[in-house]
Amino acid sequence: MKILFYEQHADAALWMHDLARELPEADLREWQPGDTAPADYAIVWRAPRELFANRPDLKAVFNLGAGVDAILDVERKEPGTLPPNAKLVRLEDTGMAQQMVEYATHAVLRYMRRFDEYDTLQREGRWEKLKAHPRASFTVGVLGLGVLGTEVARTLTALGVPVRGYSRSEKQVDGVTTYAGDAQFDAFLDGVKVLINLLPHTPNTEGVLNRRTFAKLAHGAYLVNLARGAHLVDEDLLQALESGQIAAATLDVFHTEPLPADHPFWRTPRVTITPHISAETLREESIVQIAQKVKAMERGEPIGGIVDLKRGY
Ligand code: NAP
Ligand code: GLV
Repeated sequence: MKILFYEQHADAALWMHDLARELPEADLREWQPGDTAPADYAIVWRAPRELFANRPDLKAVFNLGAGVDAILDVERKEPGTLPPNAKLVRLEDTGMAQQMVEYATHAVLRYMRRFDEYDTLQREGRWEKLKAHPRASFTVGVLGLGVLGTEVARTLTALGVPVRGYSRSEKQVDGVTTYAGDAQFDAFLDGVKVLINLLPHTPNTEGVLNRRTFAKLAHGAYLVNLARGAHLVDEDLLQALESGQIAAATLDVFHTEPLPADHPFWRTPRVTITPHISAETLREESIVQIAQKVKAMERGEPIGGIVDLKRGY
């Protein structure tokens, strides 16, 4: 079987070496512009449109991440980009859930115990005790109860804070109060103190972190955006921070990455910025999962993680 690999920022030789170990029978090659030779599978991240052209034999495109918004955006703008018979397959966890749990737990504890404010006090040389946030009303809301959001919501219950989760379809997660669909969105948001976003970026979720959403949260709420910059209306966050409706925000993802040097977030007090690192693609785990799925497909067995192109995730 022939497999193409493309990830502009990865060490392709290392990936191909490890892929060869898991799939010794495969004929692996790094895709280069102009390569139109046949292939059965493609393993890619943010591949150029040209990679997919004239590939009626491609059985699956493995996306080297959980989010497939970039690849679907190209398909939306130029329908027919994705080969007609190829399944689009996203990574399912592959070590990302644990990373998200660590990041989200850190953010919630930091705000609940007011460590962010103590950082500021220390810089100002001030010894001052702050009144702790009451745990019982420090409600955390997790937007998205998929592979990552479910694990985050479940873990946060161990902190003893009330945890809510929101998804499209109804879900049951131990210890988590769940809400589903547009009709329950406002009830989910009502009084939430920390809003953590783990939704996929689709036409339905774009701009969901906006002025209206912020107004439904508790006054002085915290925002933690771990999914995509396109979920956030930047201007609305700046205004909500100014008014105090949002007390602080931790942002890992942005409309433009790297975040441009002149973006006001860099200079906004109480915005914490990280460079899209909340959950990185881990080579070993990803290769093992992709290889298992390739083998299953070759045996004619079903696989998980197939993206519903209409739904957009
Ligand atoms: P997933 O398994 O596809 O879960 C998506 C969740 O969002 C599901 O619970 C889904 O509801 C819900 N959802 C989708 N559209 C919705 C809508 N319109 N209204 C309400 N709920 C909706 O995705 P995942 O693996 O958890 O990953 C989530 C996102 O995290 C990715 O798409 C990616 O953008 C982001 N991510 C970021 C990083 C990073 O480093 N910053 C790393 C990995 C992933 P149902 O359960 O009802 O389908
Ligand atoms: C990273 O952002 C991913 O979607 O895996």
